Amino acid sequence: MNVKDLLSLKNKIILVTGGAGLYGKTIVEGLAEADGTVITASRNIEQGKITAEEFQKKGLDVHAMQVDQSDHNSVILLKQNILQKFGKLDVFVNNAVLRPMKSYNDLMEKFAESMEVNATGMMDILREMADLIVKSKGGSIINISSMFGMFGPDLSNYEGTSMGNPPPDYFFHRAGIINITRYLARMLSGKNVRVNCISPGGFFSNQPERFVENYCKKVPVGRMAGNDDIKGLVVLLASEAGAYINGENILMDGGMHA
Ligand SMILES: NC(=O)c1ccc[n+]([C@@H]2O[C@H](COP(=O)([O-])OP(=O)(O)OC[C@H]3O[C@@H](n4cnc5c(N)ncnc54)[C@H](O)[C@@H]3O)[C@@H](O)[C@H]2O)c1
Repeated sequence: MNVKDLLSLKNKIILVTGGAGLYGKTIVEGLAEADGTVITASRNIEQGKITAEEFQKKGLDVHAMQVDQSDHNSVILLKQNILQKFGKLDVFVNNAVLRPMKSYNDLMEKFAESMEVNATGMMDILREMADLIVKSKGGSIINISSMFGMFGPDLSNYEGTSMGNPPPDYFFHRAGIINITRYLARMLSGKNVRVNCISPGGFFSNQPERFVENYCKKVPVGRMAGNDDIKGLVVLLASEAGAYINGENILMDGGMHA
């Protein structure tokens, strides 16, 4: 097969959770630019609709749906809505995240709130969407983790800033999503479903100048991640071009941990 055909997502129905967020938006755009039909789903349907309309104006096939992944009924409703409107699901990009904990000493109630969305809810939506993909005769699941699921924080990045310290819940659930990738790749074996994970580095979003300076000094490519960095990787894993990549976690950090 021609490599352009291998990378094409034509006729693929793709769900991206948190598609209106930082990484989510560029993931949605990349998948739609590769000719996929993309559904962005998050708690705030209004924000989702704005994102979808923005992409529709560029000629991309993007739709918005609502889901709160910490609410089982909401996850089931999303599954039903996808089936009703599109008849199947080929690809699930598990990208939503909630950050209720703000620092090391934040309340344990915040840790529990985080787990409700980022652990229990994440597992619930993964299992339900995997079920839908299996019933649709197979496809691809892409978990979005973080380099913080693989390494501890480099506190020197925060020196000279008022950003405080990074919260523990994030390091806990980002590591979990990497190993649940391997678990699911095995559990779904023989069902024509591949499960992979991408662990990106920090996305540039106008962080304090000193932080960006501290951070970029440690990255061989010399900058934080931007809009075009994850698109190609996510399209590869979603498409037939990635047909023999399974159970893998790909670190995308510009060489920071090389
Ligand atoms: N921002 C970064 O620098 C960075 C770095 C490395 C990895 N990541 C990873 O990228 C992914 C997205 O992060 P981001 O920073 O772009 O996120 P973001 O905060 O910009 O967006 C998160 C999205 O998740 C949605 N969401 C939150 N709770 C939800 C729930 N209960 N149900 C459904 N949707 C919910 C929000 O509505 C929002 O659209 C995450 O997996 C994160 O770990 C981000």
